[in-house]
Amino acid sequence: MEFSLSSKRISLVLVLFLFEPRLCYGARKLASLYEPPPMTLKYHKGALLEGKVPLSILWYGKFSSAQKSIVVDFLLSLKPLEQKKLLSSSTTPLVSKWWETIETYMKKAGKNMTQFILTDQVTDETCSIGRTLKRPQISELAHRVISKPGGLTLVLTADDVGVEGFCMSNCGFHGSDSKAKSVFIWVGNSVTQCPGQCAWPFHQPIYGPQGAPLGAPNGDVGVEGMVVNIASLLAATVTNPFGNGYFQGPAEAPLEAASACPGVYGKGAYPGYAGELLIDATTRASYNAIGSNGRKYLLPALFDPNTSQCTTVV
Ligand SMILES: *[C@@H]1O[C@H](CO)[C@@H](O)[C@H](O)[C@H]1NC(C)=O
Ligand SMILES: *[C@@H]1O[C@H](CO)[C@@H](O)[C@H](O)[C@H]1NC(C)=O
Repeated sequence: MEFSLSSKRISLVLVLFLFEPRLCYGARKLASLYEPPPMTLKYHKGALLEGKVPLSILWYGKFSSAQKSIVVDFLLSLKPLEQKKLLSSSTTPLVSKWWETIETYMKKAGKNMTQFILTDQVTDETCSIGRTLKRPQISELAHRVISKPGGLTLVLTADDVGVEGFCMSNCGFHGSDSKAKSVFIWVGNSVTQCPGQCAWPFHQPIYGPQGAPLGAPNGDVGVEGMVVNIASLLAATVTNPFGNGYFQGPAEAPLEAASACPGVYGKGAYPGYAGELLIDATTRASYNAIGSNGRKYLLPALFDPNTSQCTTVV
């Protein structure tokens, strides 16, 4: 194929560009990058995020209630029982079925299933520590909200907030405070800053082979790009919360459950093509999972430890 030669060259440039040192364990890499999946993700025998996990959200900057509910409904969709009552057909591609791949990691390590309990949501609409944040300020913000040991805080920044490394080397990252046994994830809304990097495939990619952007199932390119990155980082955080869980490669720049499958959203994916997806008959939006309130989502492929393949639920 004609395009593969040039895309290889572009990928190589991107790989070099992405491998800058990182402070946190796992960063959600730019989605347009393609690398073949590794053969295994090794378990390094450390703690995983198991059992009931209190989850808090810090909304940093302006988010509408419609935007918040796209994210919150996704998080609520990870609860298997609630969804099974809602949609009983076993062929329905539920968000909770997507999450079952993560449960496989837990089972293999002899750990309990992870169950998130959404405990608090805090809004800092005026951006109390400014609109240009350094990485340590993200953990500072997370600590304001973490109320319980073993908890997870999502720090979500609005589209007018800049974060060190955002759009340059990543779209979000996860980190931890091992003393408090708590973890955090940061993801930014890229819509005005770099949607071609952090909201692909809902936006034209800035590098690599060009395909038409896909319709966002909830009509919000920025926030649905965030959902992709949140989903990817939740998978990484649960399976590698303190840097000694499941990963491959160097601990400071690891491949984790979802970052091992960059740019893959369905079967047959290749650079510039997200893979076979479901299409909403009315809106023509693309999706591959159904969550709470019948909401549609596009979720990243996860590396399945049983099959060593990148899998999604469609
Ligand atoms: C795991 O499950 C067992 C049995 O239900 C329970 O006793 C234990 O406290 C759980 N551990 C964690 C970390 O949730
Ligand atoms: C994956 O393998 C484990 C045993 O290692 C098994 O308990 C589990 O059911 C498998 N999951 C799937 C989806 O096949």
